[in-house]
Amino acid sequence: MFETLEELPGDPILGLAAACKADPNPNKVDLTLGVYMDESGVTPVFDAIRQAQAQLVREESSKVYLPQVGDAEFNSGIRSLLLGESSSALAAGRVMSIQTPGGCGALRLGAELVKSAEPAARVWLSTPSWANHKPLLGSVGLELQNYRYYDSDSHGVNFGAMMADLEQARSTDVVLLHGCCHNPCGADLSRQQWSELAALAQRIGFTPFVDVAYQGMADGIEEDVHGLRLLVDSVPEVIIAASCSKNFGLYRERTGAIVVVAADAARARALQSQGTVAARCIYSMPPAHGAILAGKVFSSEQLNPLWRRELAAMCERMNSLRALLVEKLNAATGAEFNFIRGEKGMFSLLGLSAEQVQRLRTEHSVYILGSSRINIAGINPDNIDYLASSVASVMRSHNSVR
Ligand code: LMR
Repeated sequence: MFETLEELPGDPILGLAAACKADPNPNKVDLTLGVYMDESGVTPVFDAIRQAQAQLVREESSKVYLPQVGDAEFNSGIRSLLLGESSSALAAGRVMSIQTPGGCGALRLGAELVKSAEPAARVWLSTPSWANHKPLLGSVGLELQNYRYYDSDSHGVNFGAMMADLEQARSTDVVLLHGCCHNPCGADLSRQQWSELAALAQRIGFTPFVDVAYQGMADGIEEDVHGLRLLVDSVPEVIIAASCSKNFGLYRERTGAIVVVAADAARARALQSQGTVAARCIYSMPPAHGAILAGKVFSSEQLNPLWRRELAAMCERMNSLRALLVEKLNAATGAEFNFIRGEKGMFSLLGLSAEQVQRLRTEHSVYILGSSRINIAGINPDNIDYLASSVASVMRSHNSVR
């Protein structure tokens, strides 16, 4: 039966990361996959997580299934992290959450809920957006639309174009937004822009679907959900996909949550039941390990501040890398990369052409995504000069940065 199935090309992100791993060049630079790396190129386990894990090993007496909605400590912790301890939606019981296999599981479950509630809903995605948004949200059969977001000439958000496109959204549509640290461009909305967007959502009635995969990696844990909380205060329903891959370093543990702020408590309960039934049809029950660890970090008076300090240190390191990279690239190329300094999180689009990106790979073993997205956290004192000179070299024989 399988003769008809052809071998598919590799994933645009994971395939490149694998190609880099296989490259024998000792000078290779891997800026592909969005994972945090320290100065020595290692993706560390947070100390807070290590300690929670030691505690779990001591305490765990069974591997029996978690409840369908997941670990209770985790669910309550992630809801408060996203919405704030004093959220009136939380106090009113209008918020449901289901622990999911990573942020991807949350995006997929969110799409399932939208499809069940409103099969004709269209999902609006930013141009560009994370490569996996399209298959994750489109695979349930929802129609996808694009709104303009990043302007490659100014290296910033084209907010006028974004708002003009979203004027076309219908009240039954869903608009996918990046809560902070936009993937792939690192260009985030300002507070003023979030409030204009919230007013538009209120006027048109579309439902915001906010992907929060990098909370704590831009300006701070609370600051990074400013836009999300503004939306929650402005419209009756907001869907949130949360990931603990990056901000807890729990990548392989697949730890995330779908959180929905509903119009009232009865609807929140209905959504929770619908979500668990949808999950039962896809993967049945959530994996336990990562969520139990994050749950311990949320609730421990000792581990919680430790985790916050570790996350802040990562964020600080990425910000100083941004400043250093600007200096090195400007000096090596004679062009201006100052825009990198103002961006947030792990990513930046260098603005190189597809051909330049290809030459970086084949001539210098410098691996970045086809869109010219780099992972800032993959830069370190040992590779930054080589990276800058490689970029300069591919720019010399072509037109400079767009
Ligand atoms: C990325 O964008 O590189 C990360 O979010 C990892 C992934 O799964 O693509």
